[in-house]
Amino acid sequence: MENFVINGQRLLSGTVNISGAKNAILPIMTATILASGKFELSNVPKLLDIRSMTELLQHLGAKVHLADGVLSINTTTLNQIEAPYELVNKMRASIWVLGPLLARFKKAIVSFPGGCAIGTRPVDLHLKAMHALGAEMRVEAGNIIAECPGGLKGATIEFPFISVGASANAIMAATLAIGKSIIKNIALEPEIDSLITFLIQMGAKIEKKNINDVEVIGVPELIPTNMKMIPDRIEAGTLLLAAAITKSPLTITNCDPIHLKALMDRMERSGCKFIVKEDTITLNPAMNIMPVDLITETYPGFPTDLQAQFMAYMCLSEGESQIEETIFPDRFMHVAELNRLGANISVKGGIATIKGVEELSGAKVVATDLRASAALVLAGLAAKGKTTISEIHHIDRGYEKIEKKLNGVGADIVRFKSK
Ligand code: UD1
Repeated sequence: MENFVINGQRLLSGTVNISGAKNAILPIMTATILASGKFELSNVPKLLDIRSMTELLQHLGAKVHLADGVLSINTTTLNQIEAPYELVNKMRASIWVLGPLLARFKKAIVSFPGGCAIGTRPVDLHLKAMHALGAEMRVEAGNIIAECPGGLKGATIEFPFISVGASANAIMAATLAIGKSIIKNIALEPEIDSLITFLIQMGAKIEKKNINDVEVIGVPELIPTNMKMIPDRIEAGTLLLAAAITKSPLTITNCDPIHLKALMDRMERSGCKFIVKEDTITLNPAMNIMPVDLITETYPGFPTDLQAQFMAYMCLSEGESQIEETIFPDRFMHVAELNRLGANISVKGGIATIKGVEELSGAKVVATDLRASAALVLAGLAAKGKTTISEIHHIDRGYEKIEKKLNGVGADIVRFKSK
């Protein structure tokens, strides 16, 4: 088991480079299933989730190789339609192979997915979308078996609420369906926009109709393409909060400030100031952190993937704040661990109340999921003394060598192995 030990209360300073976005890369990796040939994705970090998706594509028969930030995918030999439990249970995003496999091979067998332990995360919207496009679905021995012998057929799909994953699956499946699909109430997350750009580069006919609706005209075939992956707004936000919680000035570069608007707005309300230049943000931290309430929402609202990190920051505010989690109401596993570090947080009915404390103090804590572990790193950076975080494989799913990036700007984090 790998752990971090953090010697807290070090000031950060300097510039950190932001990596490509995991949540943009994963759906794009599955989109390569839609065409036969060679793709190149650049700005791809080495992450556990990307390795898991690589293994899944390799299992399906593709050749996948990551070197120097370029992910080469050759789908010429991709010929399997089954995504087994051993590969799918590592990561919920594996469900994204369903739409592309069905669209191209007319059959898919996908095990029910696993992923972060942040409450029940159903896939009913994914399945309903495939059904609407004409697939016959059944569940056997924990596998989703989907078939459409005559090919998928264009349809109108209206999502009852916004799902990033189901939007991606439906759009990918519709690209090769016969006829026109209208997909209503899709996610507006930048990662979905980047998937649409990639699919259009592959020859897909996709047009935004209203802000939340797309029209997809099915084409008989798509072709491979290359693309640079967009920057990771969640990594960027985590690093800005690392600087804010340690009251350090910090610059992040190669980011997209537009994607960080909701976070920067809340951070400004807490007293932070920003200098924004094209793809660079410099943070001037608040010396007295004001309490700020927030509600997690779909994009362009405040992202659930930054909720835990923002909560860590609010632990040191001069007052009381409330954070309401509306996307994954059970996503509060970090609360007990933050309290072990001296925070004062209580949770009732999907709302956390954070009473700011003067200081956090180092302790042994356990990482429970990807973003919870990021919150613990932030708290450890600010805490007095030594914080040991176990189970940090969670953080490696979504952050490329976070300790290296933070140590590069003055943090003191050591990774060590234990039994
Ligand atoms: C994606 C992101 C994740 C982020 C989340 C919300 C990736 C790999 N993951 O996850 O980091 O936290 O968006 O921004 O990009 N739901 C259903 N039925 C479904 C699908 C979803 O009820 O079929 C519910 C979920 O339980 C959740 C809500 O819809 O309450 C939103 O989930 P969704 O947007 O689908 O999240 P993911 O795509 O899984």
